[in-house]
Parts: sequence; structure tokens; C-alpha cells
Amino acid sequence: MARVFVLHGVNLGTLGTRRPEVYGTMTLDDIERLVRSRFPDLDLEFRQTDHEGEMVGYINEAAGSDGLVINAGAWTHYAYALHDALEALDVPKVEVHLSNVHAREAWRRQSVISPAVHAVIAGMGAEGYVAAVEYVVQGPHRSA
Ligand code: DQA
Repeated sequence: MARVFVLHGVNLGTLGTRRPEVYGTMTLDDIERLVRSRFPDLDLEFRQTDHEGEMVGYINEAAGSDGLVINAGAWTHYAYALHDALEALDVPKVEVHLSNVHAREAWRRQSVISPAVHAVIAGMGAEGYVAAVEYVVQGPHRSA
């Protein structure tokens, strides 16, 4: 059974009540249920943390897995340690954002982790995770 990590970073534990006009009304549990329902045959490892070092540990743990999907929240925009951890991880990797970060504040347009992943999805809400997991399990190198 393929094993895929779905990681959520800082402030994403409050989804559902945090700015629903931007991030929607689904909680993290709702998103997890949605993704699990679409991929019943995958071994999905969902994690959330507000601690950057803990996130580095989760990324390292994904070594040897079949892929990783990450919404790093605000860390996306400045956390070089996450870039370096992702760069060292040799599995299919996708960065996901619920909102369209390019249509918001200028500082959200920069991602320091994008150079270390295969693909980026933004603005598709919870469906972005479904698309990301699909891409990971199909193999990101198939069209390269
Ligand atoms: C986010 C976008 C980030 O800019 C923000 O800091 C988040 C959520 C998103 O999913 O749209 O916490 O990653």
C-alpha cells in the first residue's frame, strides 16, 4: 500500500473558523476525511504542527515514503529550513495552498519552498489536496 504524507503547518489547525471567507469552512478533520474518502487504498499520514522544528522532523520521516503533500502556511514565505529539508527529501513532493496566494498580499506571492518541490497548487481549496495526492501517486516524472 502506497504511503503518502499530508503535512499542515502553522495556523492550519484553526481551519474552519480562521478567515472562512478566504480559507473556507472545512476544518482540517473535514479535509482529512475528504482526502481519505477519495483514496481509500492509500496509507495516508496526516500531520499538523505549529512548530517549525517538528515540521522538519515530519519531512525527514517521509523519506522512503511514496510522496509528500505540504501546506506550510505562512512558513512558505520565509522558512529556509523547510526548503532545505524538502530539498533533501527524494520523493514526489507537492506544495498546496487553499487560497490563491497570487491574488492576495504581495508577500504571499513568494514561496521559498517552491524550488524544492515538483509542483504547486493554489486556490483550489480542499480539492487542491486531492489533486496533489493524485499527482504524487501517478508519479510526477511521467511527463518530464
Ligand atoms: C495558506 C496561504 C498562506 O499565505 C497563509 O499564511 C496560510 C495558508 C493557504 O493555504 O492558502 O496560513 O498556505
